[in-house]
Amino acid sequence: MAFNLLLRVHVLLGVLAPEVWTHTTAADFITLDCVPALSLARIYLDAKHFLDKHVRFSAVDQYGRVLEINEALAVQCGYTISTDFRGNIEFRASLISCYSQIVDDKNFTITVQIDVSTTPDMREVSSYVRALSCSYFPWSPREILCETNYMEVSVRREIPGIKDYIQDQPDDWTDVLPEAASVAASIWQVVFHLPSAKRAMLVSEAQNAGYGINTTDSRILLRAPFNASEARETNISGVTFSVVRSSTFYKQRWMILLVDTAVACPVDGIEYINNTIIWSIPKSITPLQAGARYFNDSRVVMGVNFQELTSTDISKRQYNLSDDGKVIAVQIPIGDEGGYFKSHVTKGEYGTTYSINVFFEHQWNDNRWGATKHTIIKEMTTPFKHHPLIITNNTIPSKKLFNVTIGTFLQDTKLVNLTIGSEILTVTDANEQGYNISEMKHPNGSTSYTVTVPFDDPNVKKKHDTGVNRTYTLSITYKFQVIPQNQTFTATAIISCPLPDAVLPDAIGYCDNDHLYLTVTRGNIDEDWIPYISNIQLTMPSQSSGYTLQDNGTSFRVKVPRFSSLVSYESLRSSDLMITLPLDMKDSDGLTKRSFSISCSYSSQDLIACLPNGTVVVTAVKLAGMPDMDPSQFVLRDKNCRPTAATEERATFIFNVDTCGTIRKFDQMAMIYENDVLYFRPGMANPAYQLKCSCWYTINETIVFQYGFENNSAPTIQPGFGPLALVMRVCKDWTYSDFYENTEYPIARYLKDPLYLEVELLYSEDPEIELFLENCWSTASSDPSSSPQWDVVINSCENTKDTHETIFHPVTDNLRIKFSNHVKRFEVKMFTFMHDTNALLGQVYFHCSVVICDSRDRTSDKHCARKCIPDKQRFGRSAEFHYLHGHVSSGAILLVADKTVQDERVTKYKAD
Ligand SMILES: *[C@@H]1O[C@H](CO)[C@@H](O)[C@H](O)[C@H]1NC(C)=O
Ligand SMILES: *[C@@H]1O[C@H](CO)[C@@H](O)[C@H](O)[C@H]1NC(C)=O
Ligand SMILES: *[C@@H]1O[C@H](CO)[C@@H](O)[C@H](O)[C@H]1NC(C)=O
Ligand SMILES: *[C@@H]1O[C@H](CO)[C@@H](O)[C@H](O)[C@H]1NC(C)=O
Ligand SMILES: *[C@@H]1O[C@H](CO)[C@@H](O)[C@H](O)[C@H]1NC(C)=O
Ligand SMILES: *[C@@H]1O[C@H](CO)[C@@H](O)[C@H](O)[C@H]1NC(C)=O
Ligand SMILES: *[C@@H]1O[C@H](CO)[C@@H](O)[C@H](O)[C@H]1NC(C)=O
Ligand SMILES: *[C@@H]1O[C@H](CO)[C@@H](O)[C@H](O)[C@H]1NC(C)=O
Repeated sequence: MAFNLLLRVHVLLGVLAPEVWTHTTAADFITLDCVPALSLARIYLDAKHFLDKHVRFSAVDQYGRVLEINEALAVQCGYTISTDFRGNIEFRASLISCYSQIVDDKNFTITVQIDVSTTPDMREVSSYVRALSCSYFPWSPREILCETNYMEVSVRREIPGIKDYIQDQPDDWTDVLPEAASVAASIWQVVFHLPSAKRAMLVSEAQNAGYGINTTDSRILLRAPFNASEARETNISGVTFSVVRSSTFYKQRWMILLVDTAVACPVDGIEYINNTIIWSIPKSITPLQAGARYFNDSRVVMGVNFQELTSTDISKRQYNLSDDGKVIAVQIPIGDEGGYFKSHVTKGEYGTTYSINVFFEHQWNDNRWGATKHTIIKEMTTPFKHHPLIITNNTIPSKKLFNVTIGTFLQDTKLVNLTIGSEILTVTDANEQGYNISEMKHPNGSTSYTVTVPFDDPNVKKKHDTGVNRTYTLSITYKFQVIPQNQTFTATAIISCPLPDAVLPDAIGYCDNDHLYLTVTRGNIDEDWIPYISNIQLTMPSQSSGYTLQDNGTSFRVKVPRFSSLVSYESLRSSDLMITLPLDMKDSDGLTKRSFSISCSYSSQDLIACLPNGTVVVTAVKLAGMPDMDPSQFVLRDKNCRPTAATEERATFIFNVDTCGTIRKFDQMAMIYENDVLYFRPGMANPAYQLKCSCWYTINETIVFQYGFENNSAPTIQPGFGPLALVMRVCKDWTYSDFYENTEYPIARYLKDPLYLEVELLYSEDPEIELFLENCWSTASSDPSSSPQWDVVINSCENTKDTHETIFHPVTDNLRIKFSNHVKRFEVKMFTFMHDTNALLGQVYFHCSVVICDSRDRTSDKHCARKCIPDKQRFGRSAEFHYLHGHVSSGAILLVADKTVQDERVTKYKAD
């Protein structure tokens, strides 16, 4: 009930002129009619105009006073206001309602003022006054109307009306009747018969208690609320009635006239079974038939929407009226045309109710009361019934178009919003965005909605399954609204459709000296895949964990340094190291969808540096497949030698060739230092990991042999190469403390001047190697193999065949000479070569072949004996080399002809 509870009395001035305040458009939406069969007048306000308006009804009495109708006044005075599901408002008034103008109990005029406002506080009201005249005649001696909000009884009277006697004074008749005596002040009284007692009230008291009492020309009437304080619930043949038993009487001089104004109306008796409404009405309503010995039905009719149904109508509509003698049962099929379905939302669920407005009229005669007309009006509404929604998937994969239908709904339910994927849209917005939303009306009046969404819409989720298969998933949450109450509810449709149209991401990679690169070209399924390297999520901008990520939308490139915790190392063959950069693409659930890797083989030579001074820098990396390995626990052959630096992935050692258990070996062309990086598992004697590393020191550009590692299962790194150099200097005097600089060559000398020569092995700081002169000779050109030659040292021995013999000089450590083992000295006299009989004036050069030996080893190898061993061959004696060969030459020494050129030694020696 939507009407105002304001109680205000407007004093209407002037003559009633119904159209004075009217708003011409609204007037068209107010209709009036009489329902004589039910002694009711009706005013109908069409929802088309009044749906979202605030409406107030007031009664206008015969003097033009306007009385606003609130709920209590409606019950007391015989008004009913109801709203149907569409928002139409119906106002009903009993023909004998309070302010009805009644002529001869035949002609009833009801005047109502309707105030309409757009605001709840009823400002800026438009008012419409409507007067409706209805005729009703004849009245039954007793008429009972069970309206939806009140019970009304009117009884023919043969006594004067109330207003004629209101001034009467009490007198001595009051003693006659106890009830009358207790209310002696008034002659008009109502006595309520309660089970335990009687309660008498004056008319004014009864009206204050909510009853309506009045008289018309020929009738007396009583109106009571269903829950009046004197009403009692009584079970009559299984149906609960609200019963008010009352007698209304007055005293007229010497007579007390009494009228029975009992009223009884059912409050229940309606059941909803098997899609049928069953309404049971007892035939014999005992409180209304007190004292009667018999009664007989004179008329039983029913109607819908205040229209009486003929028996043809009843069977056509498949109603059923059954009478078992005690109870009349009316069966109404749910869904009958006279009623209507209404949508509701309960606990978020969509459902419907069915409502129908039915009346039942029963007339009977009994021997005590004569004819009674008993009319019941019922607005029946079935309980909420869940209405399942059906989602139909009409998707056509070949068109790549989702087509989803949801239904069915009553017309009072509208689709207002949709959430497609994660986007919330109104229907208008959704249509504008190309989601085609259509409303389909079915013949039975219900509707359903169809939405079409293309597969490639951004709000469609695409999920990769396997291979080229992927699943498109459309999730739509529909939001519906039930009007006019505006309750909302949602329904969700999730439609998936598989299609084999996936393009997987692909990757290419490459490496350069310092970095590994992987470029991943995205496919069409991986937009939410995230790249990971070893469980580290790659993000933009790149983080400090060492990678560089570049993303141009369609592809991204990761760049990782060769030495990084993100890569793994693996020994490929003996001398190569495989470095692998793995990359996983994981989906949003963390599942690895695709893995890529780039592996590059690096020469392990890059992992060792052999410095000229004999310092070795080795980097040993942890190998894939040995996850428990801890590089900080790596050691060298001498287990006391630990890494200078270590990370989780690698360890770096810096050590000198004469420390840490380094082994020295000789090749014909190189001197080799070897060590191993070892890893021992705790408590184990054998290494779990062995990385061989070696440094090859060669003299000049001499070719180096490859070291044979093939049989060695332990990982190795290719040897590093370091320089060795030999130098032959000419010193200024026998102290060997000062020598000629490179720029001073050629050095000028007179014949027979002593020449102090020194050969030194440069760079090496290994105190355990020793340089020996093997053969030294002199030539006239810088080419050591040119002729003529003159021997100076032969097989490590001084050339003593000559009178001008070669003299070895000892070497001692001093400031300049750090390792005396690395130096040899000898002295010769300046000479010249003869050609034919002519002395060759000009330059001479000295050359030496040298060996570098392990000085600790010289006893076991005579090649390296300090002493001169004449006539011994140095080559080919042993399969294993313990020495290194080298050659060295001096700069040019110029003979100056200041002295006699002839020299016997020189003449004796001739070029060959
Ligand atoms: C009683 O009825 C008279 C005449 O119909 C009417 O004028 C008066 O307002 C009514 N009084 C009440 C209290 O209903
Ligand atoms: C009832 O009264 C109204 C106004 O007094 C009048 O217009 C109408 O004709 C009357 N109708 C009957 C049936 O008397
Ligand atoms: C409902 O209908 C079914 C079949 O039409 C019937 O068997 C059943 O008894 C009915 N139930 C009631 C309570 O009438
Ligand atoms: C959606 O499917 C229904 C049922 O197959 C069809 O009637 C309707 O035309 C389709 N809508 C579109 C837009 O394809
Ligand atoms: C529908 O969506 C619009 C825009 O998102 C929002 O403003 C509105 O409140 C929603 N309506 C309902 C009934 O939820
Ligand atoms: C793709 O899906 C089809 C149909 O569901 C299936 O037969 C096929 O084996 C799938 N292909 C792969 C690579 O999983
Ligand atoms: C329902 O919504 C309409 C328009 O959105 C509004 O005018 C009306 O007052 C609302 N009704 C209720 C009962 O909230
Ligand atoms: C929807 O229909 C398509 C096409 O018939 C079908 O492939 C898909 O499996 C259906 N999806 C669901 C969830 O029923």
